[in-house]
Amino acid sequence: MGVEYVSVQWNRQKKNYDAVLIGGLGAYLVIFSVLTKVRFPHVTDEIMLIRAFGTGGLLLLHVILCIGPLCRLNSKFLPLLYNRRHAGVTCFLLGLIHAALVVITYHAGSDTNPILSIFVSSPLTGSVAGVPFQPFGLFALTLLFLMAATSHDFWLANLSAPVWKSLHMLVYVAYALLVLHVTFGALQGEASPVYVVSMAVGLATVLTLHIAAARGEVALDDEIAIGGRGGDEDNSARSEIDADGFLDACAVADIPEDRARIICLSGERVAIFKYDGKISALSNVCQHQNGPLGEGRIISGCVICPWHGYQYVPETGASPPPFVERVPTFNVRVRDGRVLVHPKPNPAGAKAEPALIER
Ligand code: HEM
Ligand code: FES
Repeated sequence: MGVEYVSVQWNRQKKNYDAVLIGGLGAYLVIFSVLTKVRFPHVTDEIMLIRAFGTGGLLLLHVILCIGPLCRLNSKFLPLLYNRRHAGVTCFLLGLIHAALVVITYHAGSDTNPILSIFVSSPLTGSVAGVPFQPFGLFALTLLFLMAATSHDFWLANLSAPVWKSLHMLVYVAYALLVLHVTFGALQGEASPVYVVSMAVGLATVLTLHIAAARGEVALDDEIAIGGRGGDEDNSARSEIDADGFLDACAVADIPEDRARIICLSGERVAIFKYDGKISALSNVCQHQNGPLGEGRIISGCVICPWHGYQYVPETGASPPPFVERVPTFNVRVRDGRVLVHPKPNPAGAKAEPALIER
């Protein structure tokens, strides 16, 4: 089983992803530079490059932030999610080149320490248009560095999944800082509204997609809820509780072979898998980056996460050795062609006896 566990290897899919990422950014930088030279011939090469790398980094950050909600709204976008961390590291590198060019161009020529110069070069004036915008860029770059430096699975394993995920939620703080950086920067430097308008369009896109995805998730939770909210009609659950507290989840026939049906129990999503004449239930949340296990399938006896290919044994919720990821399991029963699930999760990695499908 472990032989097929390819999530951390440098496979063809990752190489293609990186080729598209680098090719796309290279094309953007060239097109941006040519257009700048043609439309604004007075702009120096240094400033052209500062702008090309700054806007390239910010554009990529928009793409990174939109990938999550897009995948929730339509699974066709899943290939974009596969190697998103490389996009994150590239975003940091673009921001770093932009900042290094700014420091060389504007802050390295005086006796003042260049980092200090970022803070004192635009003294406070009391007017909105005079707000020093460069420190926002520095704070954002620091956060992007923290995330890029800890993006490898080594840090995910060593920091623990909750700490790592909280750290990487800082991407939203970095984005907010960059919105301020560009908006206040444009208010000071540019007569043209192009940066402010582009920023507003970008922000509106990110917000709209997140709100649409969140509403979709809430609606889905309602639709698949068992034993509380939600209805019978859509998911064929009868919301019945037997004497031992097991809930009627769905018909065995509702679950495709080697795949799962996802239900929502007390607000938690549970994936009920059918395989080899058996039924097992696991938490739907992958330990790697919260991928939806129930949208994956069983191959060679393991549930494969659809996002990056982590594997879990359906009976135990544990990844096959030498991997250590574990998700909670749920006790299941099969009665009269129906699947019953106990709402209390077992500890992550604890074996739950699979229910045999009556023939
Ligand atoms: C130490 C960190 C940073 C400093 C000192 C800094 C400084 C600057 C300066 C001086 C400008 C105006 C440049 C000009 O047009 O003359 C600028 C603009 C901009 N910055 Fe930054 N920045 C930093 C970090 C970042 C990061 C991390 C990003 C995005 C990933 C970014 C994105 C932008 C964008 C999109 C613009 C508007 C386009 C432009 O005028 O270049 N900046 N920044
Ligand atoms: S393998 Fe990455 S989220 Fe599941």
